[in-house]
Amino acid sequence: MSKTAFITGASKRVGKALAEHLASAGWSVIIHFNSSEKEAHELALSLTQKFPQQNFETIKANLSEMNEVENLISGVVEKYGKFELLVNNASVFDPGYIAETDTKLFDLQMNVNLKAPFFLMRDFARSCKEGNIINFVDTRITTNKSNFAAYSISKKALWDLTKMAALEFAPKIRVNAIAPGVTLPPEDKDETYLQKLAGNIPMKKPGGLIPILRSFDYILQNEHLTGQLLFADGGENLGQNV
Ligand SMILES: NC(=O)c1ccc[n+]([C@@H]2O[C@H](COP(=O)([O-])OP(=O)(O)OC[C@H]3O[C@@H](n4cnc5c(N)ncnc54)[C@H](OP(=O)(O)O)[C@@H]3O)[C@@H](O)[C@H]2O)c1
Repeated sequence: MSKTAFITGASKRVGKALAEHLASAGWSVIIHFNSSEKEAHELALSLTQKFPQQNFETIKANLSEMNEVENLISGVVEKYGKFELLVNNASVFDPGYIAETDTKLFDLQMNVNLKAPFFLMRDFARSCKEGNIINFVDTRITTNKSNFAAYSISKKALWDLTKMAALEFAPKIRVNAIAPGVTLPPEDKDETYLQKLAGNIPMKKPGGLIPILRSFDYILQNEHLTGQLLFADGGENLGQNV
């Protein structure tokens, strides 16, 4: 029987690439979505057609609503049984300096990017008992730039939480993180925007999805690795040499 992964925010972009990548390596995948229902179902269908021996299911939950978060893992386990990999990929990314941030914006970033992963990790440990957790943070956690203040602090905290969980859940569950940098443009921007951003990083070009998928494989394959952060950011975390 194939192993099963549960990926939050898996209907599009990075989450979709992770689902396709895992599927091609023999995994079954539970595709979580919030608003992208059509894309989630299309992805499940196309993966089922390509990999008929594996199982592809979809599940909806708004991760800013704690009652939906608290029922999510137990609902999945009840329906499909225990699974081996939890990927906290879903995220909101809203701009705002500290001085401009209201409590609504702050709460949304913290709820989706930190509080939901906290309780999903708790529930994975309680219900599934062994396996892997991979949390998506951001290379921004290495700077104190505050133009996405609430987003950045949610991801900084998620990285610290990754280490706490790695210590608490070892040796049965490994917990690691990936910090992408310039990868895909936000949905309202194009490639030119991305190229311009990438001009400031050491590797001078956007990484795209491949470095993330390679980091992902490294974490899964290295059975002694826990509490670690892999940057998939073309050296952006090093800062600028000026
Ligand atoms: N893309 C980059 O360049 C980049 C750079 C640095 C870090 N990262 C990190 O890498 C991960 C993936 O990036 P991405 O750009 O692919 O992410 P994204 O497109 O911004 O978001 C992924 C998914 O999160 C889900 N989501 C948002 N709000 C939600 C809510 N309230 N409840 C449930 N799900 C919700 C959405 O699902 P629905 O569409 O179903 O609503 C969305 O499709 C994120 O954690 C991000 O912070 C990405």
